[in-house]
Amino acid sequence: MSLNSLPEPDADARAHSARLTEVIRERIAAAGGWIDFADYMRAALYEPGLGYYSAGAHKFGARGDFVTAPELSPLFSRCVAGQCAQVLAATGGDTVLELGAGTGRMAADMLLEFERLGHIPSQYCVLETSADLRARQQATLASLPAELADRVRWLDRLPESPLRGVIVGNEVADALPVQRFVAHRGTVFELGVSEKDGVFADAARPADTELANFVSSLQVGDDDAYCSERNRQLGAWVASLSDALAAGMIMLFDYGFSRREYYLPERRSGTLRCYYRHRAHENPYFWPGLQDITAWVDFTALAEAAMSAELAVAGYTTQAQFLLAAGIEDHVAQAYTGDLKGQVELANGLRKLILPGEMGDAIKVMALTRNETNVPDGFDGRDMCAGL
Ligand SMILES: C[S@@+](CC[C@H](N)C(=O)[O-])C[C@H]1O[C@@H](n2cnc3c(N)ncnc32)[C@H](O)[C@@H]1O
Repeated sequence: MSLNSLPEPDADARAHSARLTEVIRERIAAAGGWIDFADYMRAALYEPGLGYYSAGAHKFGARGDFVTAPELSPLFSRCVAGQCAQVLAATGGDTVLELGAGTGRMAADMLLEFERLGHIPSQYCVLETSADLRARQQATLASLPAELADRVRWLDRLPESPLRGVIVGNEVADALPVQRFVAHRGTVFELGVSEKDGVFADAARPADTELANFVSSLQVGDDDAYCSERNRQLGAWVASLSDALAAGMIMLFDYGFSRREYYLPERRSGTLRCYYRHRAHENPYFWPGLQDITAWVDFTALAEAAMSAELAVAGYTTQAQFLLAAGIEDHVAQAYTGDLKGQVELANGLRKLILPGEMGDAIKVMALTRNETNVPDGFDGRDMCAGL
């Protein structure tokens, strides 16, 4: 896609982006002219008061830049809540912790479903890094009946005393900063960021031994350059989630695939994508702070990190298989009101959630368990753990 065809931001948004650009420019200068891509991505998305997630960009839904499953349809969150309720019942757990709760839509719909099931957790905790989104979540959840809204607590960090229950995140791992690399004829370079006249650009430098060894093991990058990315902080992130779980399950939904599929020789330009007003493109330097930047998740790396943190990799499947096994069709039947407009919305949501060309196959879900917790029945469909 030509970046010229993307809509021009208004003057306030351009000024906002210029402020963030200046912060990053100074950081690059202080570092001697080069920063690694993860540092750039962290600033572009999470710089306090300026990053895409930290500041006031609309982000989600028709007026924003992208749509997530819980924003598309309440059917998604109803299925997830049913699965969480099974784990809470089996472990005697009392807590659900949602990571990166976006607008709060998923929390609201899950709490309503817990109420319908007669299984409201004692606490529904939210860990959100963005102050802007935390305020939006508070506004969304304020519309719930008091007995549900009162269960919600916002955390500033993961709980120090490990919880019994479920930690759940939708599209959080694919929003974590990644490192980029290029392999060409046996040499591996790390792709960082440099700056000239306020314009950022990719800048390659020789990879350190750890990155070079990782890329060599992939056997990619012959006569044609091979560019991709890797989440170096995934291990530490999963270890911190593991420390927060005494018993129960961590359930993560994300765009991604196994390492073998991730680093297919023909996937020469990686999975990094940027979203601006519902247009996807590949330039992470376009209007810093005004667009989302995301990279798909290497679920093999996620599984390895989980096993190192003494979690069991208990389930891995596609979003479509998960939702079907979790009874999404029953939820459609229950939601039927006879109202034509409502029915069309429900059907559209269902289609986007489960069809292969939409989110159905591209999004995967992984269940990581502690203390022999059985996975709920959403993982009874197609188990893909053997392909990791
Ligand atoms: C792509 S959005 C998904 C939001 C929501 N889960 C949904 O599906 O609509 C990513 C979310 O993760 C949050 N986030 C990013 N890094 C995080 C972290 N380390 N811990 C918790 N939340 C994080 C962002 O602020 C944002 O709310």
